[in-house]
Amino acid sequence: MGKILVIGAGGQLGTELTKVLADRYGNEAIIATDFQEAVRPKFNYCSFYILNVLNKTELEAIIKTEGVSQIYHLAAILSAAGEKNPLQAWDLNMGGLLNVLEVSREYKIEKVFWPSSIAVFGPHSEKDQTPQNAFKDPNTIYGISKLAGEHWCEYYFNKYGVDVRSIRYPGLIGYKSMPGGGTTDYAVDIYHKALKGEKFSCFLNEHTYLPMMYMDDAINATLQLMDAPKEKITIRTSYNISGLSFSPAEIYQSIVKHYPNFEIKYQSDFRQAIADSWPNSIDDSAAKADWAWHPKFDLEAMTSAIITNLPKYFN
Ligand code: SER
Repeated sequence: MGKILVIGAGGQLGTELTKVLADRYGNEAIIATDFQEAVRPKFNYCSFYILNVLNKTELEAIIKTEGVSQIYHLAAILSAAGEKNPLQAWDLNMGGLLNVLEVSREYKIEKVFWPSSIAVFGPHSEKDQTPQNAFKDPNTIYGISKLAGEHWCEYYFNKYGVDVRSIRYPGLIGYKSMPGGGTTDYAVDIYHKALKGEKFSCFLNEHTYLPMMYMDDAINATLQLMDAPKEKITIRTSYNISGLSFSPAEIYQSIVKHYPNFEIKYQSDFRQAIADSWPNSIDDSAAKADWAWHPKFDLEAMTSAIITNLPKYFN
């Protein structure tokens, strides 16, 4: 096997996934890249390059010199940040993916992972237990880019045989890294405020349900999908996966059991409309049937794990 290239390694998912890949395949097998120099210290255990994924020449140079055989392309501008600069979000999300798909075709990369999102669904998609093939009318530029990207992935698989695999992640919640620019970010921030003993101002209303997932489950899902035999992958756009579904009021209740003085207030902003356009919960029967996906963490287990571990990473 050649090396594994992680693009956008310094982000919320990349920070954790890159380390898990290094533990599994060896530090020397991993090439972490990010556009920000500031994240370099996170990757003192493996090779690290500064890479803007829109620069195809630099991407090719890394693939050639390092002998890359797998790519995890995680760089993206998320939903809330994308609404502030839609054209930039489109350029990065779409241009980055197209560069990765093209180099994967040209250099015969063995396997590619690319994350999609629950943001591909929109106001007219079924809200509860949203099916894999639900009607999709995303109304954020992030969701539009993810939906288009899913079809590009399927196209490259059908036309060129590029083995690209994808998951529609819900909001990801972990304690080792911070999200940035998403609509589900409140569910990470709330733990940080509880730990600091500060009142939490929630940018979504009390009863807004969203699909969410504990980071360990998300990483396991990713590894399971990437490990699955090629013939088991029946969906080449992107798989629905489901872990948790909760509202701000419910996550608050799970935290206040550990921090009895913790307080919350609700002050919704433009992200409320984004959340309202997304599903409450997701049907993931295809992922369960095709590659035996099964989440392990419920809300209480996630809260206990985060509250126990967060002080080791942030204080
Ligand atoms: N967590 C993402 C966001 O909120 C959804 O994929 O934008």
